[in-house]
Amino acid sequence: MKRTLGVCYYPEHWPEEIWAQDAARMADLGLTWVRIGEFAWKRMEPAPGQYDWGWLDRAIDVLGAAGLRVVLGTPTATPPAWVVAKHPDMLAVDADGRPRGYGSRRHYCFSHAGYLDECRRIVRAMAERYGANPHVAAWQTDNEYGCHDTIFSYSDAARGAFRQWLRARFPGQGNDGDIGALNAAWGNVFWSMDYDDFDQIGLPNLTVTEPNPAHVHAFRRFSSDQVVQFNRAQVEIIRAQSDAPIAHNYMGRITDFDHFQMGADLDIASWDSYPLGFLEDRVGATPEHQRAYARQGDPDFQAFHHDLYRAVGKDGRWWIMEQQPGPVNWAPYNPAPLPGMVRLWTWEAFAHGAEAVCYFRWRQAPFAQEQMHAGLLRPDSVAAEAFAEAETVAAELKASPDVTPVQAPVAILFDYDADAAWAVQPHGVGLSYFGLVFDWYKACRKLGLSVDILSADCRRFDGYALVLAPGMMHMPDDLKTALSAAPGQVIVGPRTGARDADFNIPTPLPPAWPGSDLTVSRVQSMRPDMPVALEPVGRIHSYLEQVEGGGTTLMQTTDGTPVAVACGDRATYMAAWGDDVAHMALIRALVPDLAVAYMPEGVRRRETGDDMFWFNYSTQAVEIDGQTLDPAGVLRLPK
Ligand code: GAL
Repeated sequence: MKRTLGVCYYPEHWPEEIWAQDAARMADLGLTWVRIGEFAWKRMEPAPGQYDWGWLDRAIDVLGAAGLRVVLGTPTATPPAWVVAKHPDMLAVDADGRPRGYGSRRHYCFSHAGYLDECRRIVRAMAERYGANPHVAAWQTDNEYGCHDTIFSYSDAARGAFRQWLRARFPGQGNDGDIGALNAAWGNVFWSMDYDDFDQIGLPNLTVTEPNPAHVHAFRRFSSDQVVQFNRAQVEIIRAQSDAPIAHNYMGRITDFDHFQMGADLDIASWDSYPLGFLEDRVGATPEHQRAYARQGDPDFQAFHHDLYRAVGKDGRWWIMEQQPGPVNWAPYNPAPLPGMVRLWTWEAFAHGAEAVCYFRWRQAPFAQEQMHAGLLRPDSVAAEAFAEAETVAAELKASPDVTPVQAPVAILFDYDADAAWAVQPHGVGLSYFGLVFDWYKACRKLGLSVDILSADCRRFDGYALVLAPGMMHMPDDLKTALSAAPGQVIVGPRTGARDADFNIPTPLPPAWPGSDLTVSRVQSMRPDMPVALEPVGRIHSYLEQVEGGGTTLMQTTDGTPVAVACGDRATYMAAWGDDVAHMALIRALVPDLAVAYMPEGVRRRETGDDMFWFNYSTQAVEIDGQTLDPAGVLRLPK
């Protein structure tokens, strides 16, 4: 398969006279894909039931005639004012009970039945009109579910739907649920919180002090299900009219709904990669790290998501739907990428298996919210800096062999439900499941190891020398059994199996690992500025469990408290959140045979079937196998 490039385009932003020129220029640049439509509801349906498809017909024709393939987005992230006027209670409500206002985007509640009907209608109209259009070669549903903190809504519609969801989860006689079962599962005897009826159950906001964690976790699971269902409604309608693959564009570190569940309904997982924007507000990096990588982005954050979305996509199919091309408008600081970084980011995505990388956006907008966001072109249509880098990649793709996939030696499990559980009960400021998993991922990358991310539904681990499953607060027994049978080494903990499916501490106490008496007897979280030193190396910050039993101790605190302890045949329980040094040392100790390379600071590599790709995120040139790798450089060395 040939990897391809594309771009996001908004024909409705530009005079129709320039569309053909734009299209010809995109094709000349070597682009294959053009994504359009995802915010254009008002142009498609200016008033209720009055459709205006003429402009979109012509835009698709013009783009298609230039040889481009269209990704058509459904416009449900931006309901026009008339939709809101018709359904004033469709606005999502924030945790403080305030409706989220009109005037930007994503102003809807996933549980509002009237809004869902409007979405079905506009999507059906689009699918009927364009489902068989030969230029429409893929679809995108909505835009970035979860962006701007929009998964959780505390509206009346959400409350009603939550009660129904709970009735189904605790089934009873007839249509009503078993309220006694819910009370028992949640431990509502605590603080006299027992309900007499499902209709007494509210949403877990505006309580005097913290609500019951079981209640909050249930609300998070419910909210995730609502998003998956909302998306599924669109997918079913599109599929009835079109054979083209369907994608959604997910985000970086937005974990408020289960992407694996949504991914099962879609053909392609895509995500929107903004390496410099993320460095400031999502990576969780120290100010020093932010300064060192201000113009390159974090060396691991994009790669993590590439690997995650490869797992979310059906048969590993994934794309970058939006690639940062220059300074953006929305991060705390918005520097320009170092020359060469747009090319590096693009090649790194391909090395991780991306089928396509699309730049956001074709031309910088001179109006409205994103005036300060670069595109491939300036507002005056002169090429911006990224244009030439995209051109270089297009030429390189043409001239080089395809990137071939291969199974990585290391797997990391990622579980959205565990992420929700940590969010409900972090036990310390800033502690998150994502942060823990990402720390392990970084340790692997710093050792030069390629990683496959797997869903927590995975039960087969053949071919992996090492499987990491840190922090899964609820781990079903059959997953413990499958991990115990894995042929390679396994690392679990901290917090593995710390809660049952209803958010209670199970007995026997965690981790209840097959064939091991290891028991977590006490749990503490610590100030991050009071790290605890480890032997042989490294430090713990944030989180430390006290364990009893288990096998050999591989790592301990300097006062002799066991930290990494063998449990079962090939599993190691890590009873703490270590730093990179500790994590790297444990990996080295467990899988000494994995060819761990010397990795210069800021340099990363990714192994494919035929090549080893090297990427230099640092500002210093380095030598790799006798070749110079410049800052922002990419080396592709045949194996
Ligand atoms: C994305 C979004 C785009 C655009 C872009 C700007 O989150 O999907 O529509 O707003 O950010 O960086």
